[in-house]
Amino acid sequence: MGSSLSCCGSEQAEKGPKTLGEVNNSWRIFTYKELHTATNGFNEDNKLGEGGFGSVYWGRTSDGLEIAVKKLKAMNTKAEMEFAVEVEVLGRVRHRNLLGLRGYYAGADQRLIVYDYMPNFSLLSHLHGEFAREVKLDWKRRMNIAIGSAEGILYLHHEVTPHIIHRDIKASNVLLNSDFEPLVADFGFAKLIPEGVSHMTTRVKGTLGYLAPEYAMWGKVSENCDVYSFGILLFELITGRKPIEKLPGGVKRTITEWAEPLITKGKLKDLVDPRLGGNFDENQVRQAIHVAALCVQSEPEKRPNMKQVVNLLKGYDAGDKVKVIQTRMDSIKYNEELLAQDQTDDDDDDETNGGYGVFSALDVQKMHVPYKGSADKKMGKPV
Ligand SMILES: Nc1ncnc2c1ncn2[C@@H]1O[C@H](COP(=O)(O)OP(=O)(O)OP(=O)(O)O)[C@@H](O)[C@H]1O
Ligand SMILES: [Mg+2]
Repeated sequence: MGSSLSCCGSEQAEKGPKTLGEVNNSWRIFTYKELHTATNGFNEDNKLGEGGFGSVYWGRTSDGLEIAVKKLKAMNTKAEMEFAVEVEVLGRVRHRNLLGLRGYYAGADQRLIVYDYMPNFSLLSHLHGEFAREVKLDWKRRMNIAIGSAEGILYLHHEVTPHIIHRDIKASNVLLNSDFEPLVADFGFAKLIPEGVSHMTTRVKGTLGYLAPEYAMWGKVSENCDVYSFGILLFELITGRKPIEKLPGGVKRTITEWAEPLITKGKLKDLVDPRLGGNFDENQVRQAIHVAALCVQSEPEKRPNMKQVVNLLKGYDAGDKVKVIQTRMDSIKYNEELLAQDQTDDDDDDETNGGYGVFSALDVQKMHVPYKGSADKKMGKPV
């Protein structure tokens, strides 16, 4: 497979990235040794977290570039070509709100994907994780994150060829750069999971709290599924609540079940995250709730597309949509069987055990501060 990739990669390699810059979207093939050295031998202290595809490590290349290296779980031979195709697709994706490919290593039994390191970690870590108490995300930043993420998804759905359906839009896949600009991560790799591997197959289905009902129940995939997940993400940004909460007594409630009665009664301000201390733009809140409610409608064809979502969030009235007060939002009730697989645990307030809403037991995240306990503590906090 190395040869099949080097044809496209070698050309890029010559332009290889030296520094991080807004327009630097080139990628190259790394050697194993380079990445091994950069991550201090894939040291546990460098581990940023763990997801469905493998573990992610912080690293620094010899030329000073900070990187995040995703070490994929072992794959079979059949998946090798798929990997090549995916890397090609990812290499072509260029958008300021998408975490593009910085490079990769593909050896006989190892697949390493290299991304830019995002110093403010994931949206999850700020909303529900280890930085939640610091409340670095004021209303302005939240709206900026919503619009930027929506623009990234719009690009995937409508601008890149072939079009890409993300299928796992969620707070841990929205990463934040040093300016808290959002970059949507992990598009395009779902197909890497070999078929027939049951625990990973469940992983491909995404994260329960974000799953569109038609996808959760019948496996029906379309762009509309991403729109639904984005709607949940938007509710999460507005309210600061998790997509699925465990109530005292163990009953699980989705964020839409919680929001629906408040929206119906027009109590929109009651939806807003109390951590904002009342500091928000009321019109923007109304508009954002309106958009979120439109996105999470149970009938996929009633949902707006991402172009309409971006326009509405930016305050351009699409004209053809009803006002939020009239929006009849059908809150989603996943059936008992699905909810039983959810791993929501509200006792956690950090990401060390924050695999909320995730199907697979494999997906428990272990969010570490990079270089915790080592000499270099510079990256210990988001900036
Ligand atoms: N480029 C990066 N910079 C900083 N942190 C990152 C980067 N990439 C991933 N992470 C963090 O590493 C952790 C694991 O990421 P990973 O993508 O493997 O899992 P996930 O997002 O929880 O689930 P999924 O497999 O669906 O993407 C997450 O907390 C994520 O925010
Ligand atoms: Mg991810």
